[in-house]
Amino acid sequence: MVKVTVVGAGNVGATCANVLACRGIAGEVVLIDIKEGFAEGKVLDMYQASALYDGGPRLTGVTNDYSKTAGSQVVVITSGLPRKPGMTREELIGVNAGIVKSVMENVLKHSPEAIVIVVSNPMDPMTYLALMSSGLDKHRVIGMGGALDSSRFKCYLSKALGGNIGDVDGMVIGGHGDTTMIPLVSKASYKGVPVSEFLSEEVLEKVAADTMVGGATLTGLLGTSAWYAPGAAAASVVEAIVKDQKKVIPSCVYLDGEYGQKDVCIGVPAVIGARGVEAIVEVALTDAEKAKFEASVAAVRKNIAVLHELKAL
Ligand code: LAC
Repeated sequence: MVKVTVVGAGNVGATCANVLACRGIAGEVVLIDIKEGFAEGKVLDMYQASALYDGGPRLTGVTNDYSKTAGSQVVVITSGLPRKPGMTREELIGVNAGIVKSVMENVLKHSPEAIVIVVSNPMDPMTYLALMSSGLDKHRVIGMGGALDSSRFKCYLSKALGGNIGDVDGMVIGGHGDTTMIPLVSKASYKGVPVSEFLSEEVLEKVAADTMVGGATLTGLLGTSAWYAPGAAAASVVEAIVKDQKKVIPSCVYLDGEYGQKDVCIGVPAVIGARGVEAIVEVALTDAEKAKFEASVAAVRKNIAVLHELKAL
C-alpha cells in the first residue's frame, strides 16, 4: 500500500490530500501540521466525505508527530507562509527557509527512502534548499511549480482557442515566479497543431502574460494565494511517482549540465516516475526562449545567494 505524507494542512496541503483521497491515488494519506488539531480536523472532514464517493484511502491527521509519517513513499512539503496581495513569492524566502529545512529533517528521520515534492515558496530556492540541506540524491527532490504553471497556461490557451482543455498541450519552464516563468508558446499545440495556426501573436502574448500572473491575479481577488490548482498539481506529481507513469511534467529539478546550467534547481521538462526524476528532457529552445531561460536561472541564483546570506545553506 502506497503511503503519502502531506506536510502542512493549510489550503494547498489539505487540497492536495483531498485530491489524493478522492482520486484514490494513495492507499494511505497522512496530513501533518504544527497547529494543534488542525490536520486532524481537516482529515476528519475528508473522512466524512469519503462515504460519498466510492471508498477512500486510510487517512490520518496529526499534530507535529512525525513518527506517524514513517515509511512514506512520497512526501509533499507545503509548509510555510503563503503570499498576500502585492507580495512576490520571493519575499517569503527568509521565513520559509527555516521551516522547509526543519521539515526536511523531520521527514527524512522517519521516511529515509521518500521522494520529496516541494511546494513551499519561493519554490525554486526552496527545492534547492531541500536538496542541499538533506544531501539526498538529485532525483529524489522535485519542485512542483511547472505542473501548476503549465496547467494555468493550458487553461488560458483553451479559453483563447474556445476548445476543450484536453486537446491543448503546453508547458511552462523556468522559475516559478511572476517574471521568471516562461510559457513555451512555440511548443504549445491544439490537437497536435501549433497554436500559432489558430491564434494571433497578440493573443498568444496575452495568454503568456495572463499565465505568468495567474497566481498573482487570484491572490489579488482572494487576499491569499491559490489552493485548488496548486493542490491538484502537487497530487498529479505524486500520482506520476506512485503509478510510475513516466510522465513528462515540467518540474523544478537540479541541473547538472542540462540546458547549459549546473548547480541550480529550476523548471524544465522531466520524466517523473517511481524513482522521482527519471530523466530531464532537453527541448530545443528558440533564441528568445534561451535568453529568457538564462535570465530566469540568474534570478533563481540570486535567491540561492540569499539562502547563503541567511546561512540557511
Ligand atoms: C501559486 C502559488 C502556490 O502560484 O505559488 O498559486
